[in-house]
Parts: sequence; structure tokens; C-alpha cells
Amino acid sequence: MKIAILPGDGIGPEIVEQAVNVLNALDEKFELETAVVGGAGYAAHGHPLPDGTLKLAKEADAVLFGAVGDYKYDSLERALRPEQAILGLRKNLGLFANLRPAILYPELAGASTLKPEVVSGLDILIIRELTGDIYFGQPRGVRTSPDGAFKGEREGFDTMRYAETEIRRIAHVAFQTAQKRDKRLTSVDKANVLETFQFWRDIVTDVHQEYPDVALEHMYVDNAAMQLVRAPKKFDVIVTGNMFGDILSDAAAMLTGSIGMLPSASLDANNKGLYEPSHGSAPDIAGKGIANPLATILSAAMMLRFSLNKAEQADRVEAAVKKVLAQGLRTADIFEAGTTKVSTSEMGAAVVKALAK
Ligand code: IPM
Ligand code: MG
Repeated sequence: MKIAILPGDGIGPEIVEQAVNVLNALDEKFELETAVVGGAGYAAHGHPLPDGTLKLAKEADAVLFGAVGDYKYDSLERALRPEQAILGLRKNLGLFANLRPAILYPELAGASTLKPEVVSGLDILIIRELTGDIYFGQPRGVRTSPDGAFKGEREGFDTMRYAETEIRRIAHVAFQTAQKRDKRLTSVDKANVLETFQFWRDIVTDVHQEYPDVALEHMYVDNAAMQLVRAPKKFDVIVTGNMFGDILSDAAAMLTGSIGMLPSASLDANNKGLYEPSHGSAPDIAGKGIANPLATILSAAMMLRFSLNKAEQADRVEAAVKKVLAQGLRTADIFEAGTTKVSTSEMGAAVVKALAK
């Protein structure tokens, strides 16, 4: 099986290196091929998603992605910005289902900014639709306003839209995932204001008929944001659109103490996937050896589970991560008094060591 390794920018290369070391330490051997992406793609080939990189991602069985983005590319035109690489990969590979678990490891209860009793034992999963919504809707741009109170003035505009098929397929993923967990699903929308999300609610309600064993609840996104910080453990699986999911998943990540702990999977209709940490490229700490590689290592575990059908190896990697936390090893983002501060590579090496049977 072939895995495309796309380290990207900022801390991407250093965290991906640790996840690759973990993969190489497993009994199962994979063919790994690396390519540039994001700012690194632009620097090498003049485009954030070079043809060769897209081709490799398409032919591989799974993609392990680091992070993209750096201040030095902020002034490039939008089409050449590093973020276009990940948006282009999602669209071109049809990765419509984004799974973002937010799990609080007991050892890290003190690292959350919320009271321990609010977050202890937290284990929720956000399923974010990833290839539709206002992120990709056309038309979009800056134009001279054709009508209304500001006619003749310049205006920026985007289009929020969801086709029925797009809502149905993400709803099926959500209901089927809920069936494997606590059989509870919260669909987050803004049906009180937006046509797109009244339609979303109607379709999700319709798909629910096929999953009578799952309890479905609808919630407005503003209320969901509040409930996430007020009583996050009330949720189990959340399904929502691309933009709301972007925002809510960052909030959910912070409940767990550090965004440096959270993996993610972006899947197509056949469980081929791209796996990346939920955090960004953090250019301010790049190259310092202080980034937390665990989100990327846990993303590799999700890859083993969902795309490579190696559940046993995935369990081993996850158990190794738990073991190093129990040993008291912490990168700077999760460090507390009484624990041992380690570097990016020391953390990776500790996970490799903990894999030993
Ligand atoms: C994410 C990121 C991306 C998004 C950016 C980098 C395009 O914030 O994966 O959540 O908005 O989807
Ligand atoms: Mg985001």
C-alpha cells in the first residue's frame, strides 16, 4: 500500500517526520512517497498544489498531510496561497467527510482552559462536510453592486449552497458513525435564517428515517457554540456544514487543552482519505523543535484504521500515545508542573519506543 507524504510548511515537516518514524516502526510495511505542497510547492514549482503532488495524492491509497501556510506567502494572490493546496486536495479527491474527534486524555485534564469537571472524559466527534457550502459556492468575487441600497459601490460576495446529494451523503456518514458510537447525532444548522440550512435540516430529517435507532437533534449554530463551552459532554456526534464545522471544530479542539493533540480524517465515498492534524502550520514556532507531533501521529493511526484497514496497528499507535502521556512526557503546549518537557523528536521517539510489545 502506498502513502503520499505531504509535509507542507511551518512545523509540517518536523511533525510529519515523527509520524513517518512511527509508521516505519510498525510490522506492516508501507511504500511512502513524499512531495511538496503549500508554500513549499509554490517555492519549488510556482503552485501550492503542483501537478506531481496532486497526481501522487490521487494514485496513493492514503495521504498524510502536515500543514500549509506561512506569513511570507500572505501577499500572494488567492489562487497561489498555500491554503489553496488543501482546498484543492479536498475538492479534487472528493474528500467530503471530515472527521474531527475531540478527546480529552485524562492525563491532560488540567491543560484545558475549562474547568476539569466540564471537560473530563470528553469524547465527541465533529463531522464536517468538506467540499461544499460557501467555501466552494459560485459565483464569488468582488464586483460593482448591481442593486440594493449600495448599488454602484464595490462589494465582496460569496455563495452559500448545498445540493441535495451533498447533504444526503454526509448525513449517511453521520448516522452510520453515530450507530457505531452512542447512537446520538446533533445536526447543526442556521435554519432560522438561511434557506440553505433549512434545506439541510429537511434533508437530514428525511435521511433519519433510515436510521430509527439513532436519536437526532437539530441545533442552531450559535446555540451549539454556546453549548460546546457550557456542557460539551452533552454532545456525542455532531454533523454540520463546511463553514460552521470549521469554526466549531476549533472551539471543540480547545476543550481538550491543546489543538496539538487532535487528529483528523477527510474521507471520500470509498474511505480513501487524507489525514492531517487539526492544527495549522504555526510558522512562529517552526524549526524550534517544540511542536507537538501527537496530532499527526494520531492522524496516522486514523489512516491505518479508515483507509488501510489495519485496525490492530491503529490500536497499537493509539495505545503508545496514551503510554507516553502516562509516562509524564509533554511537549511545551501541554506541559504542566510535575511533568517532563520533551522536544518534538523526543516525543516521536518515545512513541516509537512505546510501540514495542
Ligand atoms: C481547517 C483550516 C482550513 C479550512 C484552511 C487552512 C483552508 O482552517 O482545516 O480547518 O478553513 O478548512
Ligand atoms: Mg479551520
